Amino acid sequence: MSIALCPGSFDPFTLGHRFVVERAAARFDEVVVTVVVNPNKQGMFTVDERIDLISSTCADLPNVRVDRWRGLLVDYMRNEGITTMVKGLRSTVDFEYEVPMAQMNRELADVETLFLWGDPKFAHVSSSLVKEVAKLGGDVEPFLPPDVFAAVMRKVNGELSV
Ligand code: PNS
Repeated sequence: MSIALCPGSFDPFTLGHRFVVERAAARFDEVVVTVVVNPNKQGMFTVDERIDLISSTCADLPNVRVDRWRGLLVDYMRNEGITTMVKGLRSTVDFEYEVPMAQMNRELADVETLFLWGDPKFAHVSSSLVKEVAKLGGDVEPFLPPDVFAAVMRKVNGELSV
């Protein structure tokens, strides 16, 4: 069975992320979307909230499951018996950032990283930019799955603690 890991912070999960997960799901038997916990970074969403939002956004993709991890990703992959990681690329800037990690993960644990070209429609979309625009009152609906958009709006309107 072919399994791909799609790791990230996903704070929050955007339509750009969804595009990559969907295309990975069409090419692997199973895709594990893993929220990587960074204990030094306070996000807009808790890890549980991110997992819930990814799960609802990917509910129509039966071979996608969502998990979490704190620590080296290759340790998680060893535990789970996963040897392939899939990352989305929006630009050559992403490529420059990703290549050292791909090389390091290959040396650490013989993990292969496959890059999928993102949807050019979302090439300018990042979780951090979406949060900044939303907090300043801009419209981020075009960049987010509906559940995520609603959750971001609740955060910026103070209904959930940021
Ligand atoms: O969505 P992000 O923040 O760009 O995702 C980056 C992430 C979480 C995939 C990357 O920082 C990562 O792999 N972190 C896990 C810790 C780890 O294994 N570090 C060594 C990477 S070679």
